Amino acid sequence: MMKIAIAADHGGVEMKAELIALIESLGHEVTDFGTNTTQAVDYPDYAKIVSMQVAQGEYERGILICGTGIGMSIAANKIAGIRCALVGDVFSAKATRLHNDTNVLALGARVTGIELAKMITEVWLQTSFEGERHLKRLAKITELEHVCKGE
Ligand code: RB5
Repeated sequence: MMKIAIAADHGGVEMKAELIALIESLGHEVTDFGTNTTQAVDYPDYAKIVSMQVAQGEYERGILICGTGIGMSIAANKIAGIRCALVGDVFSAKATRLHNDTNVLALGARVTGIELAKMITEVWLQTSFEGERHLKRLAKITELEHVCKGE
C-alpha cells in the first residue's frame, strides 16, 4: 500500500476521477489535489503541489494529468528530488520504474485513451526499481539539480 498524490488541470479532470477509482481498487491511499472543474487553470500550480508533497516525503508517488502531459512533466522535473516521466505506453511505464525509479507519472488525457492510461498507471504503481547499475545514473541525475546556467 502506498500513499499517492494526484492532480490534473482542466484537461485531465475526467481521467483523474477514473484513475482515483483504479488506484483505490488496487489498495492504495490516494489524495486528490484538484482541479475538479473544467474551468481553465495553470498546470504548473498543480504540478508544484503534487511534486512538493512527493519531494517532502508526504506521499510516495505522484500522478499528474494535463492535456498532453508535457507541461506537467516539465514543471514537475523542476522540483529537486522529482523524477517525472510522461508515459504513453505500457513498456515505458514498466521501464521507467525499473530503470529511472520515477516518483511522478505524467499522463496526457487528450493523447492517451482511458483504458491505456489505466494499464500504464497499474503497471507503474506495481513495478519496483531494479537498483544496481541504475543507482549511479540516478546519482548523476541528482547532481544535475545543482547545475546552473553556464556551469
Ligand atoms: C491546457 O490547455 C494545456 O496546455 C495543458 O493541458 C497541457 O497540455 C500542457 O502541457
